Amino acid sequence: MALELPALPYAYDALGPYMSKETLEYHHDKHHMAYVTNGNAALKDSPLADKSIEEICKIAYADKIAPLVNNVGQHYNHLHFWNWMKPNGGGKKIPARLQAAIDADLGGYDKMRTDFIQAGVTQFGSGWAWIAKKDGKLAIMKTANGENPLMHGASPILGCDVWEHSYYIDYRNLRPKYLEAFVDNLVNWDYVDEMFSKA
Ligand SMILES: [Fe+2]
Repeated sequence: MALELPALPYAYDALGPYMSKETLEYHHDKHHMAYVTNGNAALKDSPLADKSIEEICKIAYADKIAPLVNNVGQHYNHLHFWNWMKPNGGGKKIPARLQAAIDADLGGYDKMRTDFIQAGVTQFGSGWAWIAKKDGKLAIMKTANGENPLMHGASPILGCDVWEHSYYIDYRNLRPKYLEAFVDNLVNWDYVDEMFSKA
């Protein structure tokens, strides 16, 4: 099973002004493409080549196979990242069952928003901020580089890429402003809910 770069689920200019066409062209066409190319090269002679992307993430992390952790991890992360955003997304338009879990496990919308943004701001260097299901409950997480919650015994339902390639064109060094725009204006809560129902 070769990794493939999917088309974006919206036009390159659909997420403006919060995420520009230029950012999406570089991020999707260059950065995600590189993870696909390098991931396929790393899988070429690997016994993991026939496993699912999720299984490869877990096994590669447990066995410390860095090229697969980095590239297949980032492929998984970006596959979902494009779908975790949509035009006119974000804010409190959250499906009821997911909202109830956010209230019960994460202290409600406002605390979830603050803690998620804080996770992204405090991830030193490159990485991701997450909402994941772990031990039957939602939790805020952060991971470094290409890692994701699958590698840490959890199932991601929302992730925000905090690598500089995700925000530097639009926000320069202002990672907090990017994270605020992501939560307030971009999150596709229906896709988060879909992952929540499978987690
Ligand atoms: Fe990225």
